[in-house]
Amino acid sequence: MKLKIAKTKKDVAVDFCRYLAIVIANREKVHIALSGGSTPKVVFDELAANFQPDIDWKKVHLYWGDERCVPPTHDESNFKMTAEHLLSKIDIPAENVHRINGENPPGHEAERYGTLLDAELPKAMGLPQFDLVMLGMGDDGHTASIFPHEIQLWESQKYCEVAEHPDSGQNRITITGQLINNAAIVAFLVTGKSKAEKVRHIIKKESGHGELPASLVQPDSGKLLWFLDAEAAKLLT
Ligand code: 6PG
Repeated sequence: MKLKIAKTKKDVAVDFCRYLAIVIANREKVHIALSGGSTPKVVFDELAANFQPDIDWKKVHLYWGDERCVPPTHDESNFKMTAEHLLSKIDIPAENVHRINGENPPGHEAERYGTLLDAELPKAMGLPQFDLVMLGMGDDGHTASIFPHEIQLWESQKYCEVAEHPDSGQNRITITGQLINNAAIVAFLVTGKSKAEKVRHIIKKESGHGELPASLVQPDSGKLLWFLDAEAAKLLT
């Protein structure tokens, strides 16, 4: 586990973009799972504004680690957010963008996307392997869309599952633990003071941390990076 602590959310975005540009430059073809929520917006804006010369997007295939079960035009769609902040501003072939179809019946879409990942991704240890999985962490310690009340989804034998948001009841499609921990690289991007307590809990492996889905992220490759801002890292002595 490697911690990269930067002063502000924007600095975290710059650090991650620099890291991502190197990962992409070192590979012929790159398969990346994106996270949703608000933190990635700053990253995608930075990628679009300042890293175009550094990244050959024709080499890059984009996937999502999770998606809300809403149409791609819905304000809560992770795809819509990514399209607005990144996809509409970069020269990436349409066939390289592998959207989770949030408008589909959730059970069918979880099956479809799992089959797509099996077909598109290279294998490692017999499982589909992302070159990099980008993750956020909720205030409750969830990651992707695996929430504490459904932590059993982490161990699913399926590549994708249907999850339910604990407050809104909204269905989500999420990749599961076996894919996350089979990734070559996993990068958490966590910012803000509301995350500080869970960040300490997980990184210090405090008692009970195993009940938090984010604590189960332990890639077999050993390449786990936490990109944190000062606020999220403030309880790490
Ligand atoms: C989503 C995300 C989710 C997110 C965390 C952190 O679809 O909402 O994939 O797992 O990463 O909730 O979100 P913030 O970065 O907005 O705090």
